[in-house]
Amino acid sequence: MKVFTTIELLQGKITSFKNDQSIAFVPTMGALHKGHLSLIKKAKKENDFVVVSIFVNPTQFNNEVDLIKYPKTLEADLKLLKKIKCDFVFTPSIKEIYTTKINAQYFDFGGLENEMEGTFRKDHFNGVATIVKRLFEIVKPNVAYFGEKDFQQLQIIKKLVALEKLPIKIIGCKIFREKDGLAMSSRNIRLTKTHRKAAPFIYKILKKAKKKFIKKNADEVIKWVYKKFEKQTNLKLEYFIIATETSLKKSSVKDIKLRAFIAVFAGDVRLIDNISL
Ligand code: PAF
Repeated sequence: MKVFTTIELLQGKITSFKNDQSIAFVPTMGALHKGHLSLIKKAKKENDFVVVSIFVNPTQFNNEVDLIKYPKTLEADLKLLKKIKCDFVFTPSIKEIYTTKINAQYFDFGGLENEMEGTFRKDHFNGVATIVKRLFEIVKPNVAYFGEKDFQQLQIIKKLVALEKLPIKIIGCKIFREKDGLAMSSRNIRLTKTHRKAAPFIYKILKKAKKKFIKKNADEVIKWVYKKFEKQTNLKLEYFIIATETSLKKSSVKDIKLRAFIAVFAGDVRLIDNISL
């Protein structure tokens, strides 16, 4: 495994391999867990080389405290990556990526960016798209892998690739869960014991909502979910919506692909999850 901190050295290595070999890319913000590792293993299996980036991107945080508190575990991350025989790791500094201006570019994703996370985390997706576009330009992968836990992010990246006409295949991967159902997230390590114990309720409710949606309509299911959360002392529901997988707009039409999306505060840790209906 080789670790690069500069664009020049990384590109020097990658261009020596290119041509007919497929390069897979898994962008991350570090604090790697089994969910990341499953993406990387899949990427490795399906391609000749895999590049993983570790970069906590400042422009996608709308909250300074969230950025400061975001777990940073580079040494442990590199150990994990070495163990699964990752080929290349890119760990640039903020300056290497943004040079002088730490600003996000503005994107129009046709409304995808204004739903759910877009409402609660202003400009978040401009920051995500800015860094992903920049990393795509640097790595120039053939394929990139993203987890479905951040389903809205995945749809936005697909749109970004279409808008920018980038020759990169985007692959969404199933949510990786702890034994008790909690979706794996780098933020989970920040949960207190009490909140960690309460958090599996989120997926439990998603599964129950999915079952209820067979017989009930969207409004009834939404009301039921909000009621269930009223009784939770350690979890605060931010939103629960039922939306189409493509437009991410609220919907209750049952013959199109729908998903239930949820965001919950467990103390000061914000958790998101989703389930296909
Ligand atoms: O999902 C993430 O970890 C980040 O949003 C990403 C895609 C690495 C961009 O910073």
